[in-house]
Amino acid sequence: MYYKELERLERENPELVLPDSPTQRVGSDLENSFNSVPHKYPMLSLANTYSEGELFDFDRRVREGLPPGEKVEYVAEYKIDGLSVSLLYKNGIFTTGATRGDGFTGEDVTLNVKTIRSIPLSVNDETLPEEFEVRGEVYMEKAVFEGINSERLTKGEKTFANPRNLASGTLKLLNPAEAAERPLQIFTYYFIAKSEPYGTQYENLGYLQKLGFRVNPEYRVFDNMNDVLKYCRTLEEKRDNLPYEVDGVVIKVNRFSQQEILGNIAKSPRWACAFKFKAKQATTKLKSITWQVGRTGAITPVAELEPVFLAGSTISRATLHNFDEITRKDIRSGDTVRIEKGGDVIPKVVEVVLDARPADSKPEVPPEFCPVCGTEVYKPEGEVAFYCENSECAAQIKGRIEHFASRTAMDIEGLGASITSLFVDLGYLKTYADIYKLHERVEELKNMERFGQKSIDNLLAAVEKSKTNPFHRVLFALGIRFVGAGAARKLADHFGSLSRLMEATKEEITAVYEIGDSIAESVGKFFSDPHNQHTIEELRKAGVNFESQRPEEVSDNFFKGKSFVLTGTLTKYKREEAGEIILSLGGKTASSVSKNTDFVIAGESAGSKLEKALKLGVQVLSEEEFLQKLSEAGVK
Ligand code: IVH
Repeated sequence: MYYKELERLERENPELVLPDSPTQRVGSDLENSFNSVPHKYPMLSLANTYSEGELFDFDRRVREGLPPGEKVEYVAEYKIDGLSVSLLYKNGIFTTGATRGDGFTGEDVTLNVKTIRSIPLSVNDETLPEEFEVRGEVYMEKAVFEGINSERLTKGEKTFANPRNLASGTLKLLNPAEAAERPLQIFTYYFIAKSEPYGTQYENLGYLQKLGFRVNPEYRVFDNMNDVLKYCRTLEEKRDNLPYEVDGVVIKVNRFSQQEILGNIAKSPRWACAFKFKAKQATTKLKSITWQVGRTGAITPVAELEPVFLAGSTISRATLHNFDEITRKDIRSGDTVRIEKGGDVIPKVVEVVLDARPADSKPEVPPEFCPVCGTEVYKPEGEVAFYCENSECAAQIKGRIEHFASRTAMDIEGLGASITSLFVDLGYLKTYADIYKLHERVEELKNMERFGQKSIDNLLAAVEKSKTNPFHRVLFALGIRFVGAGAARKLADHFGSLSRLMEATKEEITAVYEIGDSIAESVGKFFSDPHNQHTIEELRKAGVNFESQRPEEVSDNFFKGKSFVLTGTLTKYKREEAGEIILSLGGKTASSVSKNTDFVIAGESAGSKLEKALKLGVQVLSEEEFLQKLSEAGVK
């Protein structure tokens, strides 16, 4: 009632809309991309412990790091399996929500964070400083996750592997209205300001609660590690009955003064650790071992299991990695096996229950022939994998096309694994270029039961749309060995077009920042193959984009047309990010200093490259000067 009224009033008087008005929880429908936010205090990670012994080692190190005889208290809290965020408040008003990012710089996800209803948009308390930060874990409840996934399943959309991935995907949605439809939750665990009105983590959590932030209720303080451990076991037992996922217990030294003495090592504090719960296991029967051929021809073993329910889903297959693993664990068809699902998606076989092994069981033998095309298998010296070397093998074709069409590559919706497999079997698809000839098959598709006019139209529209993908995505989609999404981006930005990349020498390719010999060789090999050349020509004819935005189209700025070498540690950006920004401004980056280098950008502890620059008389920019030039070029 009041909400609608408020909406109306705000519509009529937009100048009166307050930043903490409830209507601001769902931001506008405007698409935004995320700006980066430097963290005022770095967002650290935690050292993991997996055993009781390691927990007592941690306790010993803590005591050794403190003045002799000092009493130590620990606070134990659930480790929530979500993503950490920082919430910045100014004058009591929530202003910025950021992801952890690399710990120093995160992404500004304020609009999506605002959709989390349990986060107060304003707080009022006389003890509050002008500016403060709250850290916490954003997560999605198991039931919400299952609901969203089953809805996606019925719509034929891709499902998410676990609540954490769905929470992360939601926080990074470009449209906050969409994020608002996938309810997220938060548990906060830190209040940070220049000075706090208390001296312990225990009080910190109580203070957050008092301010109206959500804090997980299961936190306790202990004065010895034995009791902490007992409590960890209690929390582990309660785990399955919680409406959200937890993956362990975080143990923190209670006193801030002691935390300060202990300090940090690299990216994690000496005063805290995570006691990880055991991965969930189940026992089932391994019906058989099958061999799966991937897009590179690698043949990997898969355990076909009697379906078993484990940690939220039914599992009927598990990876066996490679033949060496089968031999090492002596895994055989017909065995009873223990399987495990860790934090990650893919279940694995941990061990065989030998007592249950059938009397007639025989050790597994490696495949001699490709299970799909029958070609004799090949095992390169020093590698554990077996390969099918027939690049025309249907399994490889399917794998390549599936990769080409996948979300992070050409993103052709409707061309997933099962349709790809069907089209390859029917002979419609052999090369990537055949995807762009699918429109010639409309009549045949119409006669197939599984396609209605609508799904054919959608598929063809997705194929058409993919032609305009940025060049770096197209390059990644080609599936060149070692060229992942990151390398593809660097190559695309540097060379600007496929023809320039195809003409490049190995030296020119390795001169690209962070591109090494193996990538350069693989790129050379790929483009010298006549089959690949032919496919590329056909893709070009079909109108697929092989050009980056040209540097000439970038407006004039300090960086345009100049060559830079980055060295040392920069505080605001990772070197890689700084390199990308330079490229986007029409500049070039190289990995070594030469007389062609215009500037060396030297961060903290720059070494030999800086020396070389000074020797060659190349101009050197400090990080500060670099940031100044960036801001002059319009980069915030
Ligand atoms: S404390 C240095 N407390 O675990 C302190 N973290 O591996 C680090 N997490 O990035 C954060 N529940 O995303 C802390 N009660 C809790 C936590 C928690 C989950 C996550 C957080 C952090 C990661 C560290």
